[in-house]
Amino acid sequence: MTTWDPTQYLKFSDYRTRPAMELLARIPLDSPKRAVDLGCGPGNSTELLAQRWPDAFIRGVDNSKDMLDVARRAHPDWIWEESDIASWISDEPQDLIFSNAALHWLPLHEILLPRLAQQLSKGGVLAIQMPRNFQAPAHRLVRQIAEDGPWQGILAGVAEWHPPLEPAEYYDILSSAGGAIDTIDTIDTIDIWETEYVQIMDSTAAIAEWIKGSTLRPFLDKLSDAQQHQFLARYTEVLQFAYPLQPDGRVLFPFKRIFIVAQR
Ligand SMILES: C[S@@+](CC[C@H](N)C(=O)[O-])C[C@H]1O[C@@H](n2cnc3c(N)ncnc32)[C@H](O)[C@@H]1O
Repeated sequence: MTTWDPTQYLKFSDYRTRPAMELLARIPLDSPKRAVDLGCGPGNSTELLAQRWPDAFIRGVDNSKDMLDVARRAHPDWIWEESDIASWISDEPQDLIFSNAALHWLPLHEILLPRLAQQLSKGGVLAIQMPRNFQAPAHRLVRQIAEDGPWQGILAGVAEWHPPLEPAEYYDILSSAGGAIDTIDTIDTIDIWETEYVQIMDSTAAIAEWIKGSTLRPFLDKLSDAQQHQFLARYTEVLQFAYPLQPDGRVLFPFKRIFIVAQR
C-alpha cells in the first residue's frame, strides 16, 4: 500500500482544496444528517463539509494511518475511520458520500460507484472529484523514467493508479443508460463537468514537489534514498522541457479534473 506524507501533500493545500470547494458548491443539500468523506486524507476536505453543515454527523474514512493521525490531531472529537474504500460499507444510509481526489487510487469504478450509490438515503448525494490528467507530461514522465532507468526491475508494475474513465462512461455507469447495473433505479439526477486549472508554480522543481505529494509516492516508496535522489533529479530535469519557464520565471502547470454529483 502507498504511504502518504501529509506535510508533503499539504504543501499545495490551496490548489488541492479548491476543487473540493467547487465540488461542494454544487451539492444540492440543505441539511444532511449523515455525511462521509471517503479518502479524507489529513482532513482538509472534511473540514469543508463541517463548515457548510456544522450540525451534520460527519466522518472521515481513509486507509492511511499517517493521514488520519494529522486529521485526528486537528479535530480529536470528530470521527475518523481507518478503512479501505474498496470494501467500505456504511452501517446506515448516508445523505452525502463525498470524495475529493481519492477514488482514482481505486480500480473498477463500474462496480465501486454503483455500490456507493446504493448506500445513499433517498435524496442523498454522491459527490466525487478526481484528477483526469494522466496523459499530462508530469504523469507520463514518471512512468517513462520508471520504465527506462536502472530501477526498471524494482518499479515494474508499481503504478497503482487507475486513470478515471471518460465522462460518458461515468454517465452510463450512474444512469439507466448503463443498463447492466443495480443502480439503474437509484440515481435521479446527474451533473458531470471537467475543469482544467492552470496552476501557477514558482518553478519546475515545484511541479516535482507537487507530484511527490501524490503520484510519485508508490514509486519513491520502493527506492533507496540514493535512488530516490537520482530519480527526482532526472524527473526535474525532463520536466523543464515539458513545462517551460514564463518570462517572470514561473511555470504554468495545467491540471484537469472531473467532477460528478449524482443525487438519488
Ligand atoms: C490525494 S489525498 C486526498 C485528501 C483529501 N480528500 C483532499 O481533498 O485533499 C487521497 C487520499 O485517499 C486515500 N486513499 C487512497 N486509496 C484509498 C483506499 N483504497 N481506501 C481509503 N483511502 C484511500 C489516501 O490515503 C489519501 O489520504
